[in-house]
Amino acid sequence: MTLKTVYIQTFGCQMNTADSAEMMLALSARGCISCQNAQKADVMLINTCTIREHAEHKALSLLGRLRKWKEAKFGRVIIFAGCAAERLGGEVKKKFPHVDIVCGAKSIDAFDKIIEASGLFGGAPAGAEPPAESSPIALVNIMRGCSCKCSYCIVPYVRGEASSLDFDEVLKNIQAKLDAGAKEIVLLGQTVNAYNYKGKNFAALLKEAVKLNGLDRLRYLSPHPLFITEEVAEVMATEPKIAKHLHLPVQSGSSKVLKEMKRGYSREEFLSKISLLKKGGIWVSTDIIVGYPTETEEDFKETLTLVDECNFSGAYCFKFSPRMGTPAFSLKELPVNIVEKRLDILLNKVKLNAKAAYKAQEGTIQRVLMESPHNGRTLSNFWVRTEKPYKTGDAVELTIKKAEESILLA
Ligand code: 5AD
Ligand code: SF4
Repeated sequence: MTLKTVYIQTFGCQMNTADSAEMMLALSARGCISCQNAQKADVMLINTCTIREHAEHKALSLLGRLRKWKEAKFGRVIIFAGCAAERLGGEVKKKFPHVDIVCGAKSIDAFDKIIEASGLFGGAPAGAEPPAESSPIALVNIMRGCSCKCSYCIVPYVRGEASSLDFDEVLKNIQAKLDAGAKEIVLLGQTVNAYNYKGKNFAALLKEAVKLNGLDRLRYLSPHPLFITEEVAEVMATEPKIAKHLHLPVQSGSSKVLKEMKRGYSREEFLSKISLLKKGGIWVSTDIIVGYPTETEEDFKETLTLVDECNFSGAYCFKFSPRMGTPAFSLKELPVNIVEKRLDILLNKVKLNAKAAYKAQEGTIQRVLMESPHNGRTLSNFWVRTEKPYKTGDAVELTIKKAEESILLA
């Protein structure tokens, strides 16, 4: 049996990146190897995102273009997986008959069974090996799904209710990644800090994880402000291996909009979490949605002042995108020109804040974990470019000579 080569195209968040790796593992066990060149591949695995309409369009238009790719070589296989696959289900094969396998986000755990049932992949040939880890960073899922049901968000519908994975299994999984050479572990979940397995909470997991052999750095994604407790902030501040950075989505600076979004916290509550984190020397970045249907000019101004108060080291800003099936879908959208103008203003403000955050690193000495010979990240998650090359995976103490826009030079 000849080996099949797999090209993976992953859209969306880190959870999808982790799911892609899991699917690749199942494919490797059936005699596939990954390849970096789509034109040479036998299998195309598209792992999709549906969080905004634009994300789904990107995946679907790629799928449309792949009809020719498939016809160009006999035996090629197309797998359409992830959140858009979950949302669209059977529609995918109807619209795109050249798709062989559809595996929605809720079925990733059953991926091996799904590819087996397709009959397109055999058993494992002798000598098949899992792919070698090339990055010093390993992603570890600790939760699946989300039970928050924010009014605009489709995630709970395509990924299901939140459930925490077994505490000991998670630790075993982390140790296995460290034994395979990982230096940095990123714990993943939609509301990762809501983790609770039989009474063992997220802070307990952090405390155990930092004790594991071979760990250099621990990060986690994506936390929800509601579950940032004093205990979590305390562990983050005192445990030297935990990143002094948190990507904490705020979504809006207006308490009124936050309430309508069903975020579960007010502007003031968010700000008090930020000061808790900052006391521990933690830098914060965020996500913001602009143009939520009920967002007034006043509400938007509150988002601007919140950005200034928080001094975010970065922020991803998104235009509201109505997702069918979510409560916010039925609300009347704001005019496009208003939303675009607000986005522009916000992006400028965010850029200035990020610039100041980078500037504040100048002259400091930072421990940089190298992700490639000339690029690495500080414990506070600032990107660094080095003059001298270093070994990937090494942690080096460097003096930050200069801050450029969104990169530090050392
Ligand atoms: N429209 C725009 N942005 C959204 N997000 C989630 N749902 C939507 C939507 N319907 C953003 C939020 C979230 C990030 C991952 O995507 O800011 O934190
Ligand atoms: Fe979506 Fe809210 Fe869950 Fe985040 S917490 S995944 S925004 S529903």
